[in-house]
Amino acid sequence: MNSETSFASGKTAPERNANHAATAPAYFSAYDLHSYYGESYIVQGVSFNVHEGEILALLGRNGAGKTSTLRTIARLASPALVKGELWLDHQSLHDKRAHEAAIAGVGLVPEDRRIISGLTVEENLELAQIVEPKGWSIERLYELFPRLGERRKQEGTTLSGGEQQMLAIARALARDIKLLLLDEPYEGLAPVIVQEIEKTLHLIREQGMTTIIVEQNAIAALEISDRAVILDTGAVVFDGTAAQVLENDALRQEYLAI
Ligand SMILES: Nc1ncnc2c1ncn2[C@@H]1O[C@H](COP(=O)(O)OP(=O)(O)O)[C@@H](O)[C@H]1O
Ligand SMILES: [Mg+2]
Repeated sequence: MNSETSFASGKTAPERNANHAATAPAYFSAYDLHSYYGESYIVQGVSFNVHEGEILALLGRNGAGKTSTLRTIARLASPALVKGELWLDHQSLHDKRAHEAAIAGVGLVPEDRRIISGLTVEENLELAQIVEPKGWSIERLYELFPRLGERRKQEGTTLSGGEQQMLAIARALARDIKLLLLDEPYEGLAPVIVQEIEKTLHLIREQGMTTIIVEQNAIAALEISDRAVILDTGAVVFDGTAAQVLENDALRQEYLAI
């Protein structure tokens, strides 16, 4: 499979990706993504747009392909993208590798958070800022996450689950990102901590950050999202507003089991 040849090489996002905004290309576009883990065909023609400053909830049952779609967007080696286009703020991502996509502005916060052991909270954030351009200053991140400021000298891996999630998000924002990808940020966290992270996501949106949030806790994700895309067996089965999903019991029962 040759992933290099099947891609268009134009410098601007194709007009056809502008389905939700007839007059301008979307800020972020995924167009007809197909990706594989080895022989396993998992992401099966996914397309959606995200507008600048929007929060999009990417939902679907366990195994629907949400994590695989985020990993494809972040251009991780697996699953391998074999066809499709990805555009972020007029830059192509489909022809990039993960580190290049990161430089182009993709910030993935993976489900397992990957806090670096042996480093303090502050060192985890400093490490994220080694490569220019930097994003939010460490002082600004401590304003957003006061708990991290209080624990700046503590080893990152000794934080509570909620605090580690905050550190993982802060670390993404410490780089100059254009698109924040959150994979199950509420997983395993007590409701009171979920509320705290929700508040932070509202503040991040107020700063204009464009975000895709994947969550099993669909209701919580929908409450902070503008729009929603629902996946089922690696394909988009719904694309609309978050309110439409919250109002549609049949849709939620069929694809979200809630
Ligand atoms: N590393 C992998 N190798 C092979 N198949 C995988 C791998 N990771 C996930 N899958 C499969 O891909 C499908 C989608 O998984 P995933 O994207 O993790 O779903 P979700 O995040 O929606 O729960 C599932 O059938 C899963 O078993
Ligand atoms: Mg997942």
